[in-house]
Amino acid sequence: MKCSTFYFSGTGNTHWAAAEFTKIIQAQGHQAELFSIDIGSQLSDEQIRAIVADADAIGFANPIYGGDIPPIMRTFLSRVVGLIGPLPSPKTTYVINTYGYVNAFGPTETKKLLAGSGLTLSAYVNIQLCNNVTSSKPVDRARLSKRMVRGRQELHRLGDCLIAGHKRIKGHGPQLLVGAMIRKKVPEAIAKFYQTLGVDSATCTRCMDCVKNCPTGSIRLRGQRFVFSSGCTACMRCYNFCPTGAITIDGAVADPQKYPRFQGPEEWLNN
Ligand SMILES: Cc1cc2nc3c(=O)[nH]c(=O)nc-3n(C[C@H](O)[C@H](O)[C@H](O)COP(=O)(O)O)c2cc1C
Ligand code: SF4
Ligand code: SF4
Repeated sequence: MKCSTFYFSGTGNTHWAAAEFTKIIQAQGHQAELFSIDIGSQLSDEQIRAIVADADAIGFANPIYGGDIPPIMRTFLSRVVGLIGPLPSPKTTYVINTYGYVNAFGPTETKKLLAGSGLTLSAYVNIQLCNNVTSSKPVDRARLSKRMVRGRQELHRLGDCLIAGHKRIKGHGPQLLVGAMIRKKVPEAIAKFYQTLGVDSATCTRCMDCVKNCPTGSIRLRGQRFVFSSGCTACMRCYNFCPTGAITIDGAVADPQKYPRFQGPEEWLNN
């Protein structure tokens, strides 16, 4: 069996989950591959078609934003459907979501976006890790560690179901009401988020990491100024990964000593 997972991960939680899943499948003697959907990965149309055709099961892994799918994954799912659909016969499809406190619509929205393509949602798993939104409150390491253990168990169950050809659909979670409220407000905030971003010229070293690593290509250096544009998916990567902590939100420079940045669960536990 071959499981190929397309993933988006702003700050490392989803990458951790998708990579763990890949290891679990491989440890059972099956094939598994991971494909980043970041703009920098430059997945071509031909590659996407070939990946889908070659795999027995296709996965989509992403964090939950506003109880829903982040814009970057929404756009990618539409692209995949446009490229492949409709497949001559249905193909097993799974979803891996990571979230901090409420995931209401991730799996159902994915299912809707894939409708008619032949990619049939057979299994999904929601893994609670931690909130990656600006770390004024650092993530509790002990709690995160426990959640990673539970997450691994869930990923093992997902793998077992896919290998056995069983379905594993849980339906809506109990957080649907809260999720619905969040979903009304967050998309607008995400769409405008790029307007809140900036660069502190006193601490920026012009290393260009933020420009190279932005998953949507939304950061450019124009003359002496960094410009953020509307394709931004509000992933928090630029803020969390700038080596000097120079990315500002609403003009505020957050001292990395006082406000530690989140660079993925393993990094967080090890530092
Ligand atoms: C813009 C934005 C919106 C978010 N909205 C939610 C949410 O509605 N519910 C939730 O549980 N977590 C939310 N989170 C937290 C992320 O889902 C969570 O930290 C996720 O594991 C991050 O994954 P990543 O490290 O792979 O980017 C949000 C994060 C961001 C950046
Ligand atoms: S990553 Fe940080 S230091 Fe490097 S160019 Fe961007 S803002 Fe400046
Ligand atoms: S500008 Fe920053 S927050 Fe927006 S998509 Fe790029 S890395 Fe993510």
